[in-house]
Amino acid sequence: PQASADPSVAEPVGPDPRSTAGKLVALRARAEAAGPGADARAAAKQHPRGKKTARERIDALLDPDSFTELDTYARSTATAFGMATKHVDGDGVVTGFGTVDGRPVAVYAQDFTAFGGSLGEVHGAKIAKLQDFAATTGCPVVGINDGGGARIQEGVASLVQYARIFRRNVAASGVVPQVSLILGPCAGGAVYSPALTDVVVMTDESSHMFVTGPDVIRTVTGEDVGFEELGGGRTHTTRSGVAHHLAPDEDEAIHYVRDLLSFLPSNNLSEAPLLPAEHVRGPEPDEDDLALDTIVPDAANQPYDMATVVTTVLDDAEFLQVHESFAPNVLCGFGRVEGRPVGVVANQPAHLAGTLDIDASEKAARFVRMCDAFGLPVLTFVDVPGFLPGTDQEWNGIIRRGAKLLFAYAEATVPLITLITRKAYGGAYIVMGSKEMGADLCLAWPSAQIAVMGAQGAVNILHRGTLKTAADEGRDLEQVRADLVTEYEDELANPWVAAERGFVDSVIAPSETRTVITKALRALATKRASLPPKKHGNIPL
Ligand code: HXC
Repeated sequence: PQASADPSVAEPVGPDPRSTAGKLVALRARAEAAGPGADARAAAKQHPRGKKTARERIDALLDPDSFTELDTYARSTATAFGMATKHVDGDGVVTGFGTVDGRPVAVYAQDFTAFGGSLGEVHGAKIAKLQDFAATTGCPVVGINDGGGARIQEGVASLVQYARIFRRNVAASGVVPQVSLILGPCAGGAVYSPALTDVVVMTDESSHMFVTGPDVIRTVTGEDVGFEELGGGRTHTTRSGVAHHLAPDEDEAIHYVRDLLSFLPSNNLSEAPLLPAEHVRGPEPDEDDLALDTIVPDAANQPYDMATVVTTVLDDAEFLQVHESFAPNVLCGFGRVEGRPVGVVANQPAHLAGTLDIDASEKAARFVRMCDAFGLPVLTFVDVPGFLPGTDQEWNGIIRRGAKLLFAYAEATVPLITLITRKAYGGAYIVMGSKEMGADLCLAWPSAQIAVMGAQGAVNILHRGTLKTAADEGRDLEQVRADLVTEYEDELANPWVAAERGFVDSVIAPSETRTVITKALRALATKRASLPPKKHGNIPL
């Protein structure tokens, strides 16, 4: 440091910049400029929009003071389009590692205030490097997206970084959990990195994902559609299924990701964390268990809420759904039994009578595969009247797309426990984790109806002649039909035919469900199964 020209003014004299002490001072100054200094400028732009800065988001996600940042000082080397004077430390993305509930997590967060969070060569290389770190250490990766896609000024050098990231997404798939938080724009081919990850979380009215934006769509197809309708969080969590959870704001989105990680192991070779229930319940049926004895209505077409059955079995009634608003005719989510995480797939009679359609089949198939990849047992709750009929379903490929669910169950090697509460008809019964599809334990309530089809449909086909004769003879057709329906239900639409042949392992009272499933999970904890060696299967896509 230079001494003041005026000898009467005593200026603090710092250490020689070439000394170790001087270099430490320089480091602090540079760290201050790259971190808090840059953050203050970013906050001034993000906060008025109701958004956090990249480092604030990382701090909210990770345990306090656990973050170690990498590549803080990495800068672009691009010079075209006046870029030479605009380089910033970090190149528009903050990367590093920390912990969530004490377990290591790698995280990156794009900084929209630097080049619009766009992905330049160095920005992309930082993300790929972080993915490599997570893959070799075996920890989850959380990507926080808020950027304009490929950095236009850097051209192909930017684009190729996406290829590097995609390949790492795919290599890590099924090895470490990958979660994407979309907290701003995510446009163009950039959407495909989140799409390759396990779970995508969006915020309401402040995040957008689309391959081509409203302007391009207007020019090419003439359609007039706004950002929100085209690719907002609501659209992707209800219509397209691209995103798995819609959060009202950033805080809730980040909270959801922390919750989600608590159910997953750090990698496919680790156990999921054990988190004992706050309210420990004994083996004897309690009030909630006993309520299940009356949950199934006597009328076959009357709905009930399958979520109640699911939560009765889970610790503290905690059920973290994925895709909650997409294909609500099937429920998918995580919970714990005796502290150990499980995945749940359940038909929901309260929506579309619990039928399986294309969206429900794909939702459940992907969920079963995720559980299988990360070693979580799958509990399947069945009340399914069949596949949803209609030309819309057939022409959109319910055959090949429904087949995904069969594929997922058939190749799953984790413990599979299936409970049939009421309807289990036809192909849908077989698909929903039935015994011969690989369930280790198949349970049924006495209200179960396991048959090729429902009584009304079966009577119409089997007794067409009888019904015609009755009509010709002027008999009370409704009474004749009712008698035939009763006869069919007594003979075929019950759990006993299946139980007598071993397709159902046990018929249990609903109030016993939690106890039986708990014991079964204990027994199945040591299950070992594997598929024949092969490069990979050819799941119908
Ligand atoms: C360079 C970009 C940029 C980009 C935004 N910026 N996107 N800079 N490359 N892709 C800059 C803007 O110039 C601006 O800089 C700042 O970021 C903020 O952008 P605004 O437009 O002012 O913000 P906003 O109105 O909020 O709009 C955000 C936006 C819009 C919706 C993201 O910027 C936009 O549409 N950007 C282009 C998106 C896009 O088409 N990207 C390419 C996708 S293709 P200043 O200096 O003015 O602050 C792709 C291919 C991936 O990504 C390949 C994978 C296969």
